[in-house]
Amino acid sequence: MTDVDALDEAAARAELARLAEAIAQADREYYQQDRPSLTDAQYDELRRRNQAIEARFPALVRPDSPSHRVGAAPVAAFGKVVHRVPMLSLDNAMAPEEIHEFVARVRRFLKRPDDVQDDYVCEPKIDGLSCSLRYEDGYLVRAATRGDGTTGEDVTANVRTIKDVPTRLHGEAPPVIEVRGEVYMERPAFARLNEEQEEAGQLPFANPRNAAAGSLRQLDSKITARRPLRFFAYGWGEADPPVTGRYSAFLERLRGWGFVVNPLTRICRTADELVAHQAEIGRQRQGLAYEIDGVVDKIDDIALQERLGFVGRAPRWAIAHKFKAEQAQTTVREITIQVGRTGALTPVAELEPVNVGGVTVARATLHNEDFIQAKDIRVGDRVLIQRAGDVIPQIVEVVDPDRPGRGPAYVFPDTCPICASHAVRLEGEAVRRCTGGLICAAQVAGRLQLLVGRDAFDIEGLGKKQVPQLIEAGLLRAPADLFVLARDPERLAKLGTLEGWGKRKIENLVRSIEARRTIPLDRFILGLGIRFTGEVNARLLARAYGSYPAWREGMLKLAAGDPDELAHLDNVDRVGSALIGALTAFFAEPHNVAAVDALAAELTITDAARPRVIQSPLSGKVVIFTGTLETLGRAEAKARAERFGAKVGASVSKNTDYLVVGADAGSKAAKAQALGVQTLSEQQFLEMTSGT
Ligand code: IVH
Repeated sequence: MTDVDALDEAAARAELARLAEAIAQADREYYQQDRPSLTDAQYDELRRRNQAIEARFPALVRPDSPSHRVGAAPVAAFGKVVHRVPMLSLDNAMAPEEIHEFVARVRRFLKRPDDVQDDYVCEPKIDGLSCSLRYEDGYLVRAATRGDGTTGEDVTANVRTIKDVPTRLHGEAPPVIEVRGEVYMERPAFARLNEEQEEAGQLPFANPRNAAAGSLRQLDSKITARRPLRFFAYGWGEADPPVTGRYSAFLERLRGWGFVVNPLTRICRTADELVAHQAEIGRQRQGLAYEIDGVVDKIDDIALQERLGFVGRAPRWAIAHKFKAEQAQTTVREITIQVGRTGALTPVAELEPVNVGGVTVARATLHNEDFIQAKDIRVGDRVLIQRAGDVIPQIVEVVDPDRPGRGPAYVFPDTCPICASHAVRLEGEAVRRCTGGLICAAQVAGRLQLLVGRDAFDIEGLGKKQVPQLIEAGLLRAPADLFVLARDPERLAKLGTLEGWGKRKIENLVRSIEARRTIPLDRFILGLGIRFTGEVNARLLARAYGSYPAWREGMLKLAAGDPDELAHLDNVDRVGSALIGALTAFFAEPHNVAAVDALAAELTITDAARPRVIQSPLSGKVVIFTGTLETLGRAEAKARAERFGAKVGASVSKNTDYLVVGADAGSKAAKAQALGVQTLSEQQFLEMTSGT
């Protein structure tokens, strides 16, 4: 890698772009997918390099620079815990013969005579993440993730928020016991969490396991506390006195101490029984509230477990009997695009119907355009499909990619198939989304529900049931329709003909709509349902612009690509590139602007309280920063300038009033001189912005 000092400007620019992408990718893997591919040290190195290059070339700092994002560093987030007894894994079996072989191996090892049979405890294999909970004299003192099996992360504070985990053991407790088991999230909670993630503008989790892992590894345990994590106990680590007797009896002790032990646990004796039991659990699988991927069979007698011991990293006394992914081949008839409630375009393969493990499959999700491209799936292809844990079948691969006369590669549409608005893909996202949020039939119900919801317009009497009913009846299509309805006797008469709408109810509805004709700017913005504008960001925007006309003008400028507007928004504390991208895409769509205008025309939108601005010699002046300042970080310097009434610009022009020059200033200083712009030292800037 080139030394930072040896980079020229072009190389530095390219390097900063590469680093921004690599760090954003690492952040996504760490925070959203809980699947980091970099070590902490590698990640630190990327950030350090980014910082060093930015310090040398301040003019090249990107609007989406990683150094603008706070709280993203996973460095030393959790303390390390060395497991005194390692947390190992299990060998897998899939076919019935492998279970017969497992039982035979155990019998051979123990030299069991033919007439002796062993008990096996069979438990569902929970698809979560394993955790070790250390109790001393009955009190929970430490909770750790599995990590690499030898060293895990200290997640004690977060585990304390899990309701299935007793912080004090009930009944009689041993001096030391490490209880092990699986932290998981139930499917309905997972679905709810993902809805919330979407609404708050965060990426959804891929599956309940990732959601559980991401929730457990939150730095702020208050966030973990709001995520409904659960825990099944199924084992132990260090124990004083040692655990003896039968594993099934140990499970009973766990129950007595206040743990949840999986209720589907059974004892089986022969290989045939083990196979039949796993098949039975497989039939129950879809009906369970949590995800499982097999059954774990364990020898019940702990003395026998000890005799059997371990091979490598797995016990000889247990096996994970996994469910088989059911597969079949069929042909792709067509690729269609579905538009979700939040505007996400999801490609779907329409298949020649085929039986896969007893279920007829005619469609499979194609996830997103990258998936189609990576597997190069085309109409007419013969494909291998599989049903694994999920109800939705997956395409594994194209079986005949080299056949003669194969059609062209699939081209993903860049317009919405429902409303023809542009469909855009924001940087760093896999999903392409329709930008016609307010007019797209696929999204209208969701958007209007958000609009009338408690945090936005808070209209009583309109909920999940009524909104679709009114849309169906043609009374609601765009946000403004709500306020037209309340003042239009003809439409109200039509409402009276719908089921459940009596006179009183209509009067109440009209009253609650009329009460919202005057609305604060932040609630108005929130109600528009623009991506990434949850409550917090709506308030940030409202405060940054103060009034509706100022906000509207700013948004139109932003959509038109005005660099000063971009710089202005980028300087607002906590506004990031995702939000800016979403606002740009939304306001670039004329339909959306028309819908916003129509709604605003029905309303009186009240100004937001702007942060107090302190009068100073900089009030009303346009200030630019360049070079490395000695005492102030760039973000702090900008915030300080704005607090004292200045506007912070991006590039030097004849409109610039002051250029604040730090060390190693680049081309801006020369340009300022050429234009006769007054320059300030950091010290002068600090003096001009002193006082309160
Ligand atoms: S017993 C010595 N029982 O599966 C290993 N593991 O593939 C003892 N798991 O890391 C593990 N449900 O995270 C056991 N009922 C269960 C389980 C279970 C899920 C997970 C666990 C383990 C992985 C091994």
